[in-house]
Amino acid sequence: MKHMHKPKGALLAALDIGSSKVACFIGRIIDDEGTFEVLGVGHHASKGVKGGVIVDLDAAEAVIRQTVHAAENMAADIMKGYPLREVVVNLPGVSAASHAYTSDVQVAGHEITDNDVRRALAKAQEQVLSDEYELIHTIPMDFRIDGNDGIRDPRGMFGQDMSVDIHMVTGDMGPLQNMATAIERSHLDITALCVSAYGAGLACLVEDEMDLGCTVIDMGGGVTSFAVFNGGRMIYSDAIPIGGMHITNDIAKGLTTSMNDAERLKALYGSAMASNMDESELIDVPQLGEDEHAAPNHVPRSLLVGIMQPRIEEVFEMVRAKLNDSGLGNAVGRRVVLTGGSSQIQGLKDLGHHVLDKQVRLGKPIRLTGLPDAVSGPAFATTAGLLTYISERADEMPAEIMAQAEPGSVWERVRYWLRENW
Ligand SMILES: Nc1ncnc2c1ncn2[C@@H]1O[C@H](COP(=O)(O)OP(=O)(O)OP(=O)(O)O)[C@@H](O)[C@H]1O
Ligand SMILES: [Mg+2]
Repeated sequence: MKHMHKPKGALLAALDIGSSKVACFIGRIIDDEGTFEVLGVGHHASKGVKGGVIVDLDAAEAVIRQTVHAAENMAADIMKGYPLREVVVNLPGVSAASHAYTSDVQVAGHEITDNDVRRALAKAQEQVLSDEYELIHTIPMDFRIDGNDGIRDPRGMFGQDMSVDIHMVTGDMGPLQNMATAIERSHLDITALCVSAYGAGLACLVEDEMDLGCTVIDMGGGVTSFAVFNGGRMIYSDAIPIGGMHITNDIAKGLTTSMNDAERLKALYGSAMASNMDESELIDVPQLGEDEHAAPNHVPRSLLVGIMQPRIEEVFEMVRAKLNDSGLGNAVGRRVVLTGGSSQIQGLKDLGHHVLDKQVRLGKPIRLTGLPDAVSGPAFATTAGLLTYISERADEMPAEIMAQAEPGSVWERVRYWLRENW
């Protein structure tokens, strides 16, 4: 189905709460194609976030506040003195789950309208209501009319029965409530939630990739999450609770050095592949507990890479196993795009190709203008994609589809906001 996007001039803000950093982008739509100009950015090392989820409310709240203030200050000209009120927020893949549903409705010979589509989606949504999770995305994939399948957009067509295969993403209530609390305490309202890897895909993939089948893997600090796209839609997502910090931790232990030094060694000399490595190349490793004037250990670089490779292989193998178990078959496609801060590890593309047996490329945000260099890299893919999501994919937000939201839930406000702004 074709997406509507928000009008030229609309102001939107994204808050990406990650294990390594919290980032906020404030943007404005500058043309009729939904292109963004980013006018304010803020980012800050995370505190109180572990493995993608908030574990310390006070610490997380403080970092969110600082980050948002920085973005507001930079965008002061267009904020006209008003504080930021509404943000679209990432939902970490470790707190989310993908479900496949099929929903049928009678159309009894009428021309199929938006309303019929919404009715089919709402019917499915009612079936997944629960106290344990909140609905995050309702994404129609394939429509069938009287048994004829492969219909992308049924509107305007005729038939008796319409059914639709739906990809629904739910978020675990506990982590969501903690996140909502930290954000609300910072005097912000959540207007929508978007799974991190979905945002990363919306930011990095070209249209052909989304259409033909492609998996985006967002390799962050605490989580590696992925989303599968096909037919222009996200058809699956999942995550593994391992990220770059685990690699850093392995290095610190394996070389008995501090986390700071391990982080530096990883970025400077690290690699995902030991092959072609010069066995005689030595690197300096400061020893844990020694003062900074003590002589560092000289260690073969291949030792460092030998620590990193198995961990990264493990992550790719887990992604491969999850893709195999998903039952998606060929819909997964032949292509993988790696993004997230940890996608900057040298040699990652080759190892990814080796383990996943797909064409692999590196990705970073492509749909924004005006991004300062410091925030234009792959670590900010999710942040950028959140803006695209709120701008173009409102039709996948459960609140918009749902006729009745539960009182007091975030969706009540989301619906209100949608009514006011669309
Ligand atoms: N040049 C580099 N080489 C290797 N790793 C890097 C490099 N730059 C950043 N990283 C790693 O990227 C990770 C952070 O990535 P990112 O900012 O995408 O995470 P996050 O969004 O905060 O966390 P998550 O999404 O997992 O909750 C860190 O583990 C860091 O070590
Ligand atoms: Mg992230």
